[in-house]
Amino acid sequence: MSKTIEQVAVIGSGTMGAGIAGLCAAAGTAVLLLDIEKATAEAAISRLTGGRKPVLTEDQAALITAGSLDADIAGLANCDWICEVIIEDLQAKRDLFTRIEPHRKAGSIVTSNTSGIPLRDIYRDMPDAFRKNVAVTHFFNPVHIMRLLELVPGDETEQQVMDTLVAYLGGELGKGVVYAKDTVNFIGNRIGCYWMLCGLHLGMEAQQKGLSMETIDALLSKPVGLPPTGLYGLVDLIGLDIMDHVAKNLRANLPADDDCVRFLDLPAAEQAMLDAGQLGRKTGGGYYKMLKDADGNKSMEVFNLQERSWRAMQAAGELDEEHAVATKLLFADSAEGHFTWQVMSNTLAYAADLVPEIADDIVNIDRAMRWGFNWQQGPFEMIDEIGADRFAEKLAADGRALPRMLQVLKDSGNSSFYNGEQYLDSNGNYQPMPAE
Ligand SMILES: NC(=O)c1ccc[n+]([C@@H]2O[C@H](COP(=O)([O-])OP(=O)(O)OC[C@H]3O[C@@H](n4cnc5c(N)ncnc54)[C@H](O)[C@@H]3O)[C@@H](O)[C@H]2O)c1
Repeated sequence: MSKTIEQVAVIGSGTMGAGIAGLCAAAGTAVLLLDIEKATAEAAISRLTGGRKPVLTEDQAALITAGSLDADIAGLANCDWICEVIIEDLQAKRDLFTRIEPHRKAGSIVTSNTSGIPLRDIYRDMPDAFRKNVAVTHFFNPVHIMRLLELVPGDETEQQVMDTLVAYLGGELGKGVVYAKDTVNFIGNRIGCYWMLCGLHLGMEAQQKGLSMETIDALLSKPVGLPPTGLYGLVDLIGLDIMDHVAKNLRANLPADDDCVRFLDLPAAEQAMLDAGQLGRKTGGGYYKMLKDADGNKSMEVFNLQERSWRAMQAAGELDEEHAVATKLLFADSAEGHFTWQVMSNTLAYAADLVPEIADDIVNIDRAMRWGFNWQQGPFEMIDEIGADRFAEKLAADGRALPRMLQVLKDSGNSSFYNGEQYLDSNGNYQPMPAE
């Protein structure tokens, strides 16, 4: 039987902590929101009720109590779930877990919102009672909008703890819960960061061969069912500093033979941008920047990576029929086709090699990419759309090995990962789809 979550503590009141506190309060749960300074937590509550689109009403916000860790840590004794949402730093998170332990009540659940630090590294020295009650709850930004919640147990986490979290996060908070394993970057960021890092490297080569940044973003969006930001627009949104931080975490934790390792150093042009502080939207421009003239008219500029200078953005225009849909584009004998095939086939093959390492099944991977990255289809749904046989044949023509799940599919004698309301498990048997 699961426990109930009636009072929550959120520690860290930045972008994500404020979002998580707001989500709980919107669901009617009382929240203790702690930061280093109480004023920081108070400002976070004001942000939730302010701005053009308030996330909370004043009544909902009244369910959140702001405090400082130094003065108000005793309040943790009343909380059923304590969610750590401080900076992405292993030692800071370890120190905080140690600090929480004497104050929490027996049986309370502690989770980390880390984006990708292995959970076992954070709870390593904690006592047994803590280890039974710990997990990762990885929300996506903005918390009140993104559906995905990656749930990751530790090695000793009790089933009852997982049941409690699923009931609260999936039920009361309305999140789409995906079950991930305690591997670096979990599911969404493991595959999403591969796609971006691989894209930046191959994008540089494609630009040297004459494809523009605008065309690359037009190809890596609608035709392949990905969001309109494409590649460079998405990296601008995330920031090159975060990309670099993610790459460093991957470098420290990926298996040495992982295919992502070859893409972990930023390309030279991106490294120069990073060094110059040209990080993306948050610094007023990265690959793209918006200009406003004296009359308020807006125009966009694009950063030429080879010449390292700005130029006016060109409208990418409608892609011709051959390049407008994945089933044609990926097989087109053109610069556009070759580039998109390389990025997408690498990414799909990467995902197909990661079951059951990062998730037990393809369903959790597909849902993570749809709910966390707004892909219209997850990797296995895309392969089905392209045709698994056709995809495998082209990989073979490139001299590439068949990724693990494609081998499972082939050995099973089937030709698609999904069959009506069933999915292919990692042993090659169709299973009923789990409820969302
Ligand atoms: N921003 C995102 O898009 C995103 C998405 C998913 C997960 N995450 C993860 O969520 C966590 C928080 O990210 P964020 O973007 O909200 O960061 P942030 O920098 O916006 O906020 C961090 C907050 O934690 C506070 N803090 C720092 N050290 C503290 C400590 N020792 N005790 C108490 N409070 C402390 C800071 O004062 C700040 O208010 C990180 O682990 C991050 O990787 C971030």
